Amino acid sequence: MGRKFFVGGNWKCNGTTEQVKKIVSTLNGGEVPSQDVVEVVISPPFVFLPLVKEALRPDFHVAAQNCWVKKGGAFTGEVSAEMLVNLSIPWVIIGHSERRLMLKESNEFVGDKVAYALSQGLKVIACIGETLEQREAGSTVEVVAAQTKAIAAKVSNWADVVLAYEPVWAIGTGKVATPAQAQEVHSELRKWLQANVSPEVAASTRIIYGGSVTAANCKELAAQPDVDGFLVGGASLKSRSSLTLSSLL
Ligand code: G3P
Repeated sequence: MGRKFFVGGNWKCNGTTEQVKKIVSTLNGGEVPSQDVVEVVISPPFVFLPLVKEALRPDFHVAAQNCWVKKGGAFTGEVSAEMLVNLSIPWVIIGHSERRLMLKESNEFVGDKVAYALSQGLKVIACIGETLEQREAGSTVEVVAAQTKAIAAKVSNWADVVLAYEPVWAIGTGKVATPAQAQEVHSELRKWLQANVSPEVAASTRIIYGGSVTAANCKELAAQPDVDGFLVGGASLKSRSSLTLSSLL
C-alpha cells in the first residue's frame, strides 16, 4: 500500500484572529489534489484551534502543537489529550525541537507523550532531528535513531504516527536540507524501523521533512523516494496565495 503524501503547516506561536482568518481563507480557496492523494493538516496555536477547525475546508484537518503527558488535572498551563479529543481535534504534534531544546523535553518524555496521545485516540506527528553540532560531529543517524527508539519503546501501533524529520539547523534558517541529505536520513530511519519495529511499519509509516521548506524547494525534496511529505513552518503562515501551503503540494 502506498504512503499518502502528508503536508502539515505548523504555525508555532504566531497569529492574531485577523491573520488566522486570512490564512484560512487563502487555504480554503487553494487548489489542491484530492484528500485521497494528499493529507493536509494545519496546526495553529491552541487558542485558535476551534476557530480554525470551524472555518477550515472539510478536507483539511487540524493538529494541536502539544499535549500533556498523562491524564489532565492539576497541571497549570497544560492542555490534555482528553481535551483535544473532546474538541474533535484529530492530530497533535509531539516532540518539536523547539520544545525539546527550550523546554528540555527528553527523548523518554517525548516517547511517553506520544504513547499517551495515541492511547487517547489522537494521531501524532512525532518530531525528531539533530542539531548542527551533532551533524558536524557525524552523529545524525545515531541521534535520530535514539529519538525514534524512545518513541518505539512506548508505541506498539504505528498506524497513527507520522515521523517528522526536522534537522534543527534547517528550522527557520532558510538553510534547507538538500534532497540528498533528507533522503539519506529518511532512508536510515526506514531501515531502523525495519530492523527494530517491523518491515510492515517501515513500509507504511510516513516520514516527512521539515526545515525551511518553501514552494521553491519542495518539488525536489518530494521527489525523493523516502520523503513522504512536509511539516512547514514559516511558509505556511504567508497569506499570499503564491506562498501558502497549497502551493507546496
Ligand atoms: O515544524 C515545522 C518547522 O519547525 C519548520 O519551520 O519555518 O523552517 O519551515 P520552518
